[in-house]
Amino acid sequence: MLKKSALGLVVTVVLLGAAHLVAQERGRARPGPSSIESSPIPQTEAEKRILSILEDMDQNQRRGMMNVPLEDGRLLRLLTETVGAKHVVEIGTSNGYSAIWFCLGLRATGGKLTTHEIDPHRASLARENFKRAGVDEIVTLVEGDAHEEVMKLNDSIDILFLDADKPGYLDYLNKLLPLVRPGGLILAHNMNRPAPDPRYIKAITTNPDLETIFLNMHAAGVGVTLKKR
Ligand SMILES: C[S@@+](CC[C@H](N)C(=O)[O-])C[C@H]1O[C@@H](n2cnc3c(N)ncnc32)[C@H](O)[C@@H]1O
Repeated sequence: MLKKSALGLVVTVVLLGAAHLVAQERGRARPGPSSIESSPIPQTEAEKRILSILEDMDQNQRRGMMNVPLEDGRLLRLLTETVGAKHVVEIGTSNGYSAIWFCLGLRATGGKLTTHEIDPHRASLARENFKRAGVDEIVTLVEGDAHEEVMKLNDSIDILFLDADKPGYLDYLNKLLPLVRPGGLILAHNMNRPAPDPRYIKAITTNPDLETIFLNMHAAGVGVTLKKR
């Protein structure tokens, strides 16, 4: 009897130990946002309205929209304010989720967003969302194939955000890098999954005029490339 319960105890301890190791290993491989993070706190009524629309889109519109995760959205806003961006160019609007995160930053910097979308249904949803969030006045939504449309851009770019057709990233970079100001950023989504185009990775990691780091690689991953001064 005693032998049986001792054996049971040993088995339980071994199983608990194994479960702990697996949990630790998972934590190492896929660290998520830490438990000390809190939600963004609105400073004004306008920010409150924008954050509530973002929350609504997160809860009710994500399906089929391929939006960036919340933590990447917060990163886009933070970088926009940090570099004092006056002009952000986004390739791949979808329904406007990441665009509205940019707008949260651009309201503070007095900047504007030019965003490109090829799909008319998503473009029309984005227009609605920009109005709901009260940011439509600082957004120009260009409908059409961005590979052609970006050739019409002339204004200097503080932040370029690539989040459309993945094999197209290198073409967008080649066409728009000359417009990115020295000290400006090129942000690229999905640097972890789906697997990025190796030609794009080579272009941003081997050019001496650029400095690249990769963030949030436990999830989709964001490439942050500085165009050096
Ligand atoms: C990943 S989604 C963008 C998600 C958006 N940035 C967000 O986080 O809310 C990619 C979008 O790029 C659009 N797209 C794909 N190829 C395009 C092209 N050549 N020109 C413009 N938009 C394109 C797709 O229709 C799709 O809506």
